[in-house]
Amino acid sequence: MTVIKVCLGSSCYVRGNDKTLNFLENYIQKNNKNISIELVGCRCTNLCEGGPNIFINEKKYSHPSEDEIISVLEAL
Ligand code: FES
Repeated sequence: MTVIKVCLGSSCYVRGNDKTLNFLENYIQKNNKNISIELVGCRCTNLCEGGPNIFINEKKYSHPSEDEIISVLEAL
């Protein structure tokens, strides 16, 4: 099971994680990944400066592009 945490703290959210969250929800649904990927939100982790941040299996990705997210997920 892959766990993706999307920081929903205000700094990350307004700087792009609102769109990243929508992108991930659509990606998971379109690719039938809802059994293998758990998508959750998390609170601010005090890493705002480099954000917006997401975590894939606890590894941090800052400012991830949609292409980067896809390539990480497809490599798992
Ligand atoms: S709001 Fe995301 S790390 Fe602070």
